[in-house]
Amino acid sequence: MGLRLKFNIILAVCYLIGLGLSIYPFYQISRREAMEQLQSQIDVLRAQALSVRRYTSEEIQPLLAEHSSIQFLPQTVPSFSAQTSFRNFRGFYPQFFYKEAALNPTNPADLARDWERELIEKLRANPDLAKDISFQTIDNRSHYTVTYPLVIKDESCLTCHSTPDRAPTSMVALYGNKNGFGWKLNETIGAQIISVPMDIAEGSIWRNLGLFVGTSSVIFLVLLVLLNVLLNRYVISPVTRMAKTAEAVSMGDATIAEFEYPGSDEIASLSRSFNRMRRSLDSALKMLEK
Ligand code: HEC
Repeated sequence: MGLRLKFNIILAVCYLIGLGLSIYPFYQISRREAMEQLQSQIDVLRAQALSVRRYTSEEIQPLLAEHSSIQFLPQTVPSFSAQTSFRNFRGFYPQFFYKEAALNPTNPADLARDWERELIEKLRANPDLAKDISFQTIDNRSHYTVTYPLVIKDESCLTCHSTPDRAPTSMVALYGNKNGFGWKLNETIGAQIISVPMDIAEGSIWRNLGLFVGTSSVIFLVLLVLLNVLLNRYVISPVTRMAKTAEAVSMGDATIAEFEYPGSDEIASLSRSFNRMRRSLDSALKMLEK
């Protein structure tokens, strides 16, 4: 095996080891960044929903309170307006999901499905948990899902959510007296569940990884070519010439020209030593011939 091949194999092995060692941390970093991006999308969606909720309770509810006591208007309920406006929002971005799911909801449409129920139970078991992150398959697509507990912190909520006789008659007339009652103060009755699709984030992770492997390979190849040129110029070519000269001399060819490699490096000093040795050999031979 030639010097050049050995050298190239060693460098390629070093490169592959280096790539192997750095690819996992790089994958972790780009995954973390992608998750942070998904979380910031969730934060924006949640802020949007909370703003609609607040607008409803501060602006709409007081305005329609009187009317609601005669004919109940779901439009005055923050949960209704937040979810309705999100449904409109999904007309633009159908891949995002928002739900205020409850174990015992006033509106049956808000009843938690199996996996939602599990998330709510988890939050109920850990009241200190501010949010829970999970990955759910919705519409055959993997989603990054964040669940925030819905806790009854305000006594005023219990007017409509404790017993049917405390709730406005107009509301009971519309929703019945079975669902959405019996909630307690400080109880986690449900959760805000927000989901954004994973595939865009996954795509960017693999793109980053491809870019990382691609650029480092190009840099490595350029360095490899450069090193090969230098290796050839400073080591292989002079050593080959010296080997040829040595070969010719050893075969008794005294006519071959001396090869002196200029400079002060090891190869140059080897070529000088070799020439000196050859001259000594020549004169020794001449002395013997006399
Ligand atoms: C005036 C009565 C009323 C009050 C007060 C009220 N709610 Fe509701 N709430 C409702 C009605 C009616 C619905 C069902 C709306 C719909 O059709 O989506 C509802 C729905 C909800 C839902 C969605 C799950 C479900 O039950 O369908 C949550 C969560 C909720 N309310 C939380 C609260 C909280 C928290 C408070 C106190 C800050 C509160 N509510 C105060 C009437 C009320």
